[in-house]
Amino acid sequence: MKFMIHAEDLTKSYRGTRVLDRFTLYVAPGTVCGLLGPNGAGKTTAVRILATLIQADSGSARIAGCDLATESDL
Ligand SMILES: Nc1ncnc2c1ncn2[C@@H]1O[C@H](COP(=O)(O)OP(=O)(O)OP(=O)(O)O)[C@@H](O)[C@H]1O
Ligand SMILES: [Mg+2]
Repeated sequence: MKFMIHAEDLTKSYRGTRVLDRFTLYVAPGTVCGLLGPNGAGKTTAVRILATLIQADSGSARIAGCDLATESDL
């Protein structure tokens, strides 16, 4: 497993407004990663998707090798 977090092209919209637009992130095992950005940039939305609390509209992500779409408990 090359990346602990492997997220590609995640998108999310609320009421027709795209708040994540092809969010892509690769995080290597054993590293610490922080998300920085202005208020409303979509940081919490991205983390909530990666934590399986909400679903992305499109894109894909694997956490520790597990596909969020097919291997989470959502
Ligand atoms: N449940 C929701 N319903 C509608 N809009 C939402 C919802 N959650 C987030 N948004 C909107 O999506 C955009 C991104 O919000 P998000 O909370 O992900 O940003 P953030 O980068 O975490 O901001 P902050 O720095 O203020 O924590 C904002 O415009 C926000 O108003
Ligand atoms: Mg936030």
